[in-house]
Amino acid sequence: MNILSIETSCDETAISIVSANNTDNPDFKILGNTVATQIELHAQYGGVFPMMAKREHSKNIIPVLIETLKKANLYVEEPHPRPLSINNGEGQSSIQEILTREPELLVLCKEYLPHIGKPDVDVIVVTSGPGLEPALWVGVNFAKVLGTLWGIPVVPVNHMEGHIMSPILTTESTINVAFPALALLISGGHTELVLVNNWMDYNKIGQTRDDAVGEAFDKVARMMDLPYPGGPQISKLAEEWRNLLLNQGGVPVGGGGNEISHHPGLTTTPPPQGGEIRLPRPMLHSNDYDFSFSGLKTAVLYAIQDIKKDGGVLTDETKKQIACEFENAATDVLLAKTFRAINEYGVQTLLIGGGVAANKFIKKSFTEKQTAEYPDLKILLPEKDLSTDNALMIAIAGYYRYQNIMAGNKKFPLDFAANGNWGVDS
Ligand code: KG4
Ligand code: ZN
Repeated sequence: MNILSIETSCDETAISIVSANNTDNPDFKILGNTVATQIELHAQYGGVFPMMAKREHSKNIIPVLIETLKKANLYVEEPHPRPLSINNGEGQSSIQEILTREPELLVLCKEYLPHIGKPDVDVIVVTSGPGLEPALWVGVNFAKVLGTLWGIPVVPVNHMEGHIMSPILTTESTINVAFPALALLISGGHTELVLVNNWMDYNKIGQTRDDAVGEAFDKVARMMDLPYPGGPQISKLAEEWRNLLLNQGGVPVGGGGNEISHHPGLTTTPPPQGGEIRLPRPMLHSNDYDFSFSGLKTAVLYAIQDIKKDGGVLTDETKKQIACEFENAATDVLLAKTFRAINEYGVQTLLIGGGVAANKFIKKSFTEKQTAEYPDLKILLPEKDLSTDNALMIAIAGYYRYQNIMAGNKKFPLDFAANGNWGVDS
């Protein structure tokens, strides 16, 4: 079967087409995949504004659909284009009704959709939450329009379930997961630990109480005048600082989870220049699986204010040092909480998903700890393009949701709404 998936929860307009054989352990094949990112636009404002994101999604979604259909060799030009009203069979008003909130998209749909023939696709799956509601609605309503036009079902998918499943899809094959698994979801909007008893059976055991970890990366970057998104920038500076220390005979990178970090750049090796910067590891020892990154971010702010008082300058070298210590601190808490949950729940597979899963140092820290202390644990990390938001992960989650409906466990939702706060275990 062929699945067409749509993702518009934040600042990427993404569509993919994935084929799957109908089994309990499907082998997914990527037929087409497109991501149109709005990062450059939002970078000018230092963050994502929901209404601006909505406008961009409306503008981009039809070109992204056409490009994806072409990549998948499923683009069929309609030989007899007719106005949507006739094509639809139910009268123009139904498409108009679906797109009441998206007038710009309605205009584009009327212009372009009559020319696109029904492709060989069995189901449309779409992210309906969590995320920015105006942005989510574009994807949800566009999916409903296509479902109506092509006469195929539309299934809502949870964005976080997509991130949970993102590591199982590789360009080569589909990976089988041993349960119970634990998902560490680290992105710009979320920091969650989710126990995965099986696919579609989740318990959220912890989450951030304030900022998401990616958000903290972005805010710390902004404090140091680095562009949005800040994660990759911080990561690059931190790596440069570590290399500098290693070249000067500092200790190698490793370990974590302690108050006194084993990472270079902190207590073990005196930094070459500038004062030593220490940051807290918030909630490291709290008796739960929650996180807090707002205090860490504020500690960076105070450190910067301290440096700048009396006319001091935030040099490139100090920025690198702050970036390194910030990354160490964030990694320490992520490691400590995650491995405590792994011990408590007898976890067999650790799935790491979300934009921050692209962070080299975090990946390395987790795999090093696994190799040294947890040889039986399998860690699955998403391939590069699957860590940040994409539609492939939505196709996979959507496949399982569709099969669940076909097996009679659930009904097709007759109508569904975008839900900005939809929890993965609710
Ligand atoms: O999952 P994602 O694409 O969107 C959300 O759902 O939030 O994640 C975006 C977040 C941003 O905060 C970005 O700074 C962060 O992921 N990020 C990184 C790295 N690459 C992206 N954070 C740390 N290190 C990275 N290499
Ligand atoms: Zn995401």
